[in-house]
Amino acid sequence: MKQCKHLAIIMDGNGRWAKAQGKKRTAGHLVGADNVRTIAIAANEMGIEYLTIYAFSTENWKRSQDEVEYLMKLPSYFFKKYMQEFIDRGFRIRMIGDLDELPKNTKKVLLEAEELSKDNTGLSLNIAMNYGSQREIVQAVNHYASDVLEGKATLGIDEDGFASYLYTKDFPPVDLMIRTSGEQRISNYLLWQIAYAELIFVQESWPEFTEDVLKRCLEEYTKRDRRFGGVKDE
Ligand code: IPE
Ligand code: IPE
Ligand code: MG
Repeated sequence: MKQCKHLAIIMDGNGRWAKAQGKKRTAGHLVGADNVRTIAIAANEMGIEYLTIYAFSTENWKRSQDEVEYLMKLPSYFFKKYMQEFIDRGFRIRMIGDLDELPKNTKKVLLEAEELSKDNTGLSLNIAMNYGSQREIVQAVNHYASDVLEGKATLGIDEDGFASYLYTKDFPPVDLMIRTSGEQRISNYLLWQIAYAELIFVQESWPEFTEDVLKRCLEEYTKRDRRFGGVKDE
């Protein structure tokens, strides 16, 4: 089976899913957070090595104060409930995003999860929190420029050199990106890293995204012909 080493997911549709059931949008975020555990375990069992999930974008601050506050408290709920299990399963938790803008306690909880799991060698569960791809790229450019000014880098880096300035420097490129809930857009997620990723958009919202749906996506991925700009069997 064609290997999918790095799976990225845009976990979308929590709010609409909750509303459709007469609940508040935040109820969808809670079920969505629990689903991260289910899908991380399933992905690990299906041979994924890196799972990068979009939890909060640099644009999500535009939402109501209540919703933003709720989303900022979710990591604490999530890691209290599942961190021990993640450690037992050998998962390594890593963050990508601009953590400095987060409430102090949220940032602390996220860094603790990274620290507690840093020696694990199993599934790398990467959580994009206050993540925006454009910001990531601009920060990388600024960082590189200051390295040049300080004599720590020379002018003229190549693609690999540039990638080493991104949050994702330790991850392989994304093989497959899935977005749930029917939207067909990227919403500022991993723009550089998906250069040659396969894209799958599913109708199910994130709370409805089960192990079976993941399996279906990976089967579809296996059928895709990845050419990377080359030509297949002449
Ligand atoms: C995804 O679900 C979770 C976050 C963006 C935080 P949404 O909250 O975007 O749900 P919809 O798309 O409004 O239904
Ligand atoms: C993308 O979903 C961000 C996350 C899943 C965290 P959004 O719901 O914020 O994206 P748009 O606004 O529909 O593009
Ligand atoms: Mg959405």
